[in-house]
Parts: sequence; C-alpha cells; structure tokens
Amino acid sequence: MSRILVTGSAEGLGRAAAQALLAAGYDVVVHARNQERAAVLGELADRGAQLVVGDFAERDAVRRVADELNAARPLDAVIHNAGVWSGPAVMPVNVVAPYLLTALLRGPRRLVYLSSNSHTGGRPSALDGADWQGRGSGSYADSKLFVTTLAAAVARLRPGVLSNAVDPGWVPTRMGGPSAPDDLELGHQTQQWLAVSDDPEALTSGGYWYHGRRLQPHRAVHDEAFQDRLVRALAEETGAAL
Ligand SMILES: NC(=O)c1ccc[n+]([C@@H]2O[C@H](COP(=O)([O-])OP(=O)(O)OC[C@H]3O[C@@H](n4cnc5c(N)ncnc54)[C@H](OP(=O)(O)O)[C@@H]3O)[C@@H](O)[C@H]2O)c1
Repeated sequence: MSRILVTGSAEGLGRAAAQALLAAGYDVVVHARNQERAAVLGELADRGAQLVVGDFAERDAVRRVADELNAARPLDAVIHNAGVWSGPAVMPVNVVAPYLLTALLRGPRRLVYLSSNSHTGGRPSALDGADWQGRGSGSYADSKLFVTTLAAAVARLRPGVLSNAVDPGWVPTRMGGPSAPDDLELGHQTQQWLAVSDDPEALTSGGYWYHGRRLQPHRAVHDEAFQDRLVRALAEETGAAL
C-alpha cells in the first residue's frame, strides 16, 4: 500500500486529504509545525497515521523531518500542501520547504505541489532578490508561481518521477475564509488522485491541475530557462541540489 506524506495536515486541505487517504486504507504520514499543533492530529494518529513535526519556516526543521523520513519506510508520494497566505514565512514555507524536501527525500515517485490560481499574478522578475529567508513580507502570488514552476522543473529534470501542481480552488478553509465560493471536497481530491491513482491521466507529469482537469499555467512555468534559474537560485540558497 502506498505511503504518502501530506505536509501541513493539522488543518484545512492537508487535513482533509490525509483523512481521506487514511480512510481509503493508505499508509499516511501527517505533519504539524509543533507538538501543540500535533495534538490536533491525535485522531489521525489513532487511526494509524505516522506523525512528523517541524516548523517549515525553519530550514533546519525541514532537514530534520527529511532525515527522519529517510530513516523510515520509503515514501511513495508527497503532497506538498503546507502554505501561508501572508507574512515573512511566505517564501520559506511555500517554496523553500517543498524545494528542500524534494531535494532531500529519497524514494517518492509522485510529487504534488499545492499551487493557486493566484500564481497567474506572480512575477517572474521577482526571482531576482526573492525573500527566501523570510526577512520581509513575501508575495503569495510570486510564491505560487515559483512552486508551480518547481513542479514543472522537477517533471523535466527527474523523468522517473511524476510531478504535478494543483490549484485546489478558492475553498472555505482558514486560509480561504468562510465565504470562499469553491467546493471544499473537490479542493482536496485532485491531489489525492495524483498521489495514488493508477488512472492513465494521473500517471502523467508536468501538469497544472484544477478539479481533475489539466489547465494552462502562467507561461513562465514551462519556460525552461526560468525553471533552471529558479532551481539554481534555490540550490544556491539551500546548499541542496535537486
Ligand atoms: N484555501 C484556498 O482557497 C486555497 C486556494 C489556493 C491554494 N491553496 C493552497 O492550499 C494549501 C492548503 O491551504 P489551506 O486552505 O488548507 O490553508 P490552511 O487551512 O491555512 O492550512 C494550512 C496548513 O499549512 C500548515 N502550515 C502553515 N505554515 C506552516 C509552517 N511554518 N510549518 C508547518 N506547517 C505549516 C498549517 O499549520 P497550522 O494550522 O499549524 O498553521 C496548516 O496545517 C496551501 O498551500 C494554500 O496556499 C488554498
């Protein structure tokens, strides 16, 4: 049975995806930023989920989580879900953490990165001087352009890995707010499907998905020169190569 890590699973879409995968019988690893937040995952742990803890705004914590997972049964898939909307943690959590995990984790053949329709407002030019260390207030749109581009870059650079990005829609989680108009259930199904399904469409790589359909992302996402610049910047910043 596939073993799947869902990052940021204390809340929202990550928690919903982890719950659904557990209910379907998969071997799930859930993740919380600290022990206090891990407490809300007790119910999932009771149902067999393994727990990892680390604040993804801190690179050393991401590295510790990767080491812990590399010492355990290998993962088959990762849903890079943890994300923040605003503040200094935007680039560290939304981009640096999924990059570092991608570089450091051994094993997973399926990688799913949470994007957003907001990525279409991201600026490729923001790559120069990007706030990787979270010193200021990062732009959510830029972060989602970068992580969507990372997904496409991984698909190109690792031909044996299925790497895709998902826009879950504007859904009513803590981040989306109570009046978000899209469907919360549909909001987590595409990432689960890409992580585990053997449908021929789910076995493709390099896509940008919304509710089970492949859409065209920002044109920078498939610009190989931009992909290479992004990957180089993240490798230099973290000291970890893809
Ligand atoms: N909701 C939407 O409308 C929407 C639309 C487009 C894209 N997305 C994307 O979907 C993903 C999930 O969003 P959501 O709506 O479920 O948001 P959410 O309800 O705010 O949940 C975010 C999750 O990420 C975790 N997280 C945040 N910062 C972290 C950190 N420093 N270390 C570890 N975990 C951290 C949170 O943990 P805590 O609970 O401890 O903070 C929580 O489990 C995000 O990547 C988001 O950008 C959401």
